[in-house]
Amino acid sequence: MQVSEKRWFVSLLAIVGIIGASLFIVSLIQTPNNSFLCSVNYSNKNDNTPTSLQLKAILHYATSSTTPQQSFSEITITLDVLKSLKRPCNFLVFGLGLDSLMWASLNPRGRTLFLEEDASWFQKVVKDAPELNAHTVKYRTHLREADALLSSYRNEPSCSPVGAMPLRGNERCKLALHNLPDEVYDTEWDLIMVDAPKGYFAEAPGRMAAIFTAAVMGRNRKGSGVTHVFLHDVDRKVEKVYAEEFLCRKNLVKGVGRLWHFEIPSKVNSTIYDTVFC
Ligand SMILES: C[S@@+](CC[C@H](N)C(=O)[O-])C[C@H]1O[C@@H](n2cnc3c(N)ncnc32)[C@H](O)[C@@H]1O
Repeated sequence: MQVSEKRWFVSLLAIVGIIGASLFIVSLIQTPNNSFLCSVNYSNKNDNTPTSLQLKAILHYATSSTTPQQSFSEITITLDVLKSLKRPCNFLVFGLGLDSLMWASLNPRGRTLFLEEDASWFQKVVKDAPELNAHTVKYRTHLREADALLSSYRNEPSCSPVGAMPLRGNERCKLALHNLPDEVYDTEWDLIMVDAPKGYFAEAPGRMAAIFTAAVMGRNRKGSGVTHVFLHDVDRKVEKVYAEEFLCRKNLVKGVGRLWHFEIPSKVNSTIYDTVFC
């Protein structure tokens, strides 16, 4: 090897050495949250670091003597679906409760939206957890009307499976939730939890409109997959009868305790013009 070739070889070795040493030092000082040497945004959808809401939820439930009403096995049904989808989900929840921080935390980096009927209860929950994405909703129904609405809705074309769309502005069908925030109509929901509004006294709104609206949203899903609808309190007559009328037995995939889980297939590409829900 000539002197000039040797010099060239030594220089090359020196450059490779400097680059190698630099990369080694960078790998030592760089942590997932310390990305000052590159532009990768670590707070992406595959990030497994706990969110601030999850940390708040752990602290809340660890120091609270009150727990959500759903049982461990009921909650597990929804959690299993959230895990199976393997991505942040769009999760619509009817009702704010002791479980709200939990639902939002089980869907990290996803969109979890709560719809609450009771304005004073809304204020109380949101004051303690302002991070929750929640809106108040006005229902046009009363539990005492459940039977009459069930036997008359077929006479109203705006309540038919096809005629109920668009839900936004559908004033004619009393079962359609027609005045929700735009975000509700503009989002395709992967999961819908119906655990509200109140349905245990005659003047309460009852869950009729929430069940009907969830069924219509599921049927009109445009993306791939099904819409998972969870209904709580199916030991009650109205929840059971409305579920059988609009969410359909054939779509019932699981039931634990007082919770039913439905998978609503999209009818958007169906060639059959459906006149009934089930
Ligand atoms: C059956 S509760 C839903 C309870 C919820 N799954 C939970 O675990 O807390 C339905 C409705 O009851 C009302 N509600 C729930 N918890 C309440 C509370 N602690 N005090 C007053 N109202 C409550 C809210 O209007 C809520 O939308």
